Amino acid sequence: MQLPDMARLLPWYEQNARKLPWRETRDPYCIWVSEIMLQQTRVEAVIPYYHRFLERLPDVCALADCPEDELMKLWEGLGYYSRVRNMQKAAKIIKQQYGGQFPRTFDEILALPGIGEYTAGAIASFAFDLPYPAVDGNVLRVTARLLAFGEDVLAPASKKQLTAAVAAAQPKERAACYNQAMIELGATVCLPNGVPKCESCPLADRCFARQKGMETALPVRKKAAPRRVEERTVLILRAGDRIALRQRPATGLLAGLYEPFAYLGKQTATQVTAMLGDCGIVPLRVTPLEEARHIFSHLEWHMVAFEVILDDENAATVCKNLDKTLFFAPGYEIDSTYALPSAYAAYRPYM
Ligand code: ADE
Ligand code: SF4
Repeated sequence: MQLPDMARLLPWYEQNARKLPWRETRDPYCIWVSEIMLQQTRVEAVIPYYHRFLERLPDVCALADCPEDELMKLWEGLGYYSRVRNMQKAAKIIKQQYGGQFPRTFDEILALPGIGEYTAGAIASFAFDLPYPAVDGNVLRVTARLLAFGEDVLAPASKKQLTAAVAAAQPKERAACYNQAMIELGATVCLPNGVPKCESCPLADRCFARQKGMETALPVRKKAAPRRVEERTVLILRAGDRIALRQRPATGLLAGLYEPFAYLGKQTATQVTAMLGDCGIVPLRVTPLEEARHIFSHLEWHMVAFEVILDDENAATVCKNLDKTLFFAPGYEIDSTYALPSAYAAYRPYM
C-alpha cells in the first residue's frame, strides 16, 4: 500500500494552516499538554484549557509537584481524568530520571506513562523534527480515503498498515510539517461523517476514494458494542449555602473527583424521603430536579435528581448515618477547590 504523490500537501498546509497556540512552540512539554487535551475535545474547546494549564503549570517540574485536587480542577470538564494522572506520573519520571529535561528520543518518549504511538510521534516530530508518523483519528480517515482502504480502520492490523503507509510517505526533512498537514487536512477538509470537502482538497486528483466515488462511504468502522446504561438517583443535599460532597474512590470511573450523593436506581421523591427517614434524616423539603444523561465511552448514566433541603442538625446526621465520606462545603469552594465531573453538569446550578 502506497500513498499517492503528496507533493501538494505541504504548500497547501503553509497556505491554509489554522494559527493554533501549540503550533507556535517547540517546547515538548507544551506540545505534550496540547496533544493530550486534543484527544479529549475539539480544538476551540482546548485553547482556554491549554493557556490556563500552562500558566499554572509552566514546566514538567511544576506538573510533577502539583497537588492532586488542583490538578483535577485544571482538568475539570475535559474528561478522562486518568490521562492527566498519567501525565503527572510521566512528569515525575522526567523530573527524577531525566533531571526535568524532556527526553529527546522516540523510544524514551513512548516509554512514558500515558504516551502511545500517536502522542510519541506528535511530540518527537513537532518538538524535535524526528521523522516519526503521528496517526490519530484524523490521519487514519484521510489515509483510508486516499488509499480507498476498505477494511475496518480501527482493527490493529489496519492501523499498522495505514501507519506504515503514512511513515513511508513522510519527507524526512519536514517531518513535523507533514504530520501537522495530515492532521489539518483531516480536521478542516477531509471531514468525518461522510462530508469531506473534496473541492477544496489539495490531493483530490490523487485520491482513490474520490476516483471511485467512495469518499463518503469510507472509512469503514466496525460498529462499537452498545453502551451499558446505569440508572441513578442524585441528591443535592443542601444546608444553607453548603452542599454535601464526597470524593469518589481512588480507582475506577472518575477516580478521585468530587460528587454529590448518588446511588444506583431511579427513585421517586416519596422513596427518597423514606430512605432518608430510615437514616434518621427529616428533610425540610425534597424537590425534583430535571432528569439528565451523561454519556461515557462505554457507559451511560440516566439520572433523576432531587434537591434536599436540610437544617443543620439533619446535615450532621447525613454525615453520620447516610455516608460517612460526605462533607458539607460552601458552593464557592466547588468553584475554587473541588473538581466536579461534567457528568453532573446539569445539577451544577443547584450547587
Ligand atoms: N489534533 C491533534 N493534534 C493536533 C494539532 N497539533 N493541531 C490541531 N489539531 C490537532
Ligand atoms: Fe479526503 Fe476528498 Fe481529499 Fe480524498 S479528495 S483526501 S476524500 S477530502
